[in-house]
Amino acid sequence: MNTAQQNEKTGVRKVTDKGEIRTEGLEVTYNSDVGQTVALSKTSLTIHPGEFVCVLGPSGCGKSTLLNVIAGFVKATEGRALLDGNAIEQPGADRSMVFQQHSLLPWKTVRANIELGPKFTGDIEASSTVNHFLKMVGLQKYENHYPDQLSGGMQQRVGIARALATFPRVLLMDEPFAALDYQTRLMMQENLLSLWEEFGTTVVFVTHDVDEAIFLSDRILLMSASPGRIVKDIANPLPRPRTQMISSEAKFLEIKRDCMEIIRAEALSTF
Ligand SMILES: Nc1ncnc2c1ncn2[C@@H]1O[C@H](COP(=O)(O)OP(=O)(O)OP(=O)(O)O)[C@@H](O)[C@H]1O
Ligand SMILES: [Mg+2]
Repeated sequence: MNTAQQNEKTGVRKVTDKGEIRTEGLEVTYNSDVGQTVALSKTSLTIHPGEFVCVLGPSGCGKSTLLNVIAGFVKATEGRALLDGNAIEQPGADRSMVFQQHSLLPWKTVRANIELGPKFTGDIEASSTVNHFLKMVGLQKYENHYPDQLSGGMQQRVGIARALATFPRVLLMDEPFAALDYQTRLMMQENLLSLWEEFGTTVVFVTHDVDEAIFLSDRILLMSASPGRIVKDIANPLPRPRTQMISSEAKFLEIKRDCMEIIRAEALSTF
């Protein structure tokens, strides 16, 4: 069971159990009628409780596969993934996923979509939990709207609220802003950071946008082209809280150059 604690001054409820994720020699091979695909090769990593980690890599390198193993949707072929020291065997309410395209139920209102998680976990305060997250993502006025009555950015905010409403230890985000226009994406990134700073959960965020990874993360894991493995673990000491203005600072550009050099070398080696 996940636990949440309320700050008496601000009224904000946040997770108290932050997840540590570890993978040990993780390997995933898919078998299909077109043959075998090694999607992830020998991946070992540790993500600390409450950390915001971005996973950056080219298309097809196994980023979604890595998230899906942590979520419990895909099984390891070799090695294992652990949450707080326990092997991950199946999905659970302690981990939530936000996908590239929203996955809201079109026949349910915003409120009903967010309420699914807390009702499923038996949250006796489901209604007030939903109010809390509607407010956090700034959509109180839209609680009775249906998904197709919202913009793409608003739909993604509902998806994030729904994912957080079970107070997960780990929030898994698979290119959640890739389908949004540039300006909305920048706004969503800032919005996500302020939610995370309040909420404190561990976040694993997949992207192929270098600027997005640097803006959001504490740490960037760079993956090689398929079959994917982690080729570099880059610390990101940029101070918080951050606004988009940080992208013109020298340290930002230095981290960007490090990332680009590795991405370029990887691309050349596989070309
Ligand atoms: N269910 C599946 N069955 C067979 N092969 C799969 C399956 N899912 C993924 N793959 C293959 O595994 C490899 C990694 O896929 P994955 O979706 O993890 O990559 P990705 O890094 O998320 O790519 P993208 O950036 O395009 O989303 C690819 O070669 C893909 O074709
Ligand atoms: Mg993917």
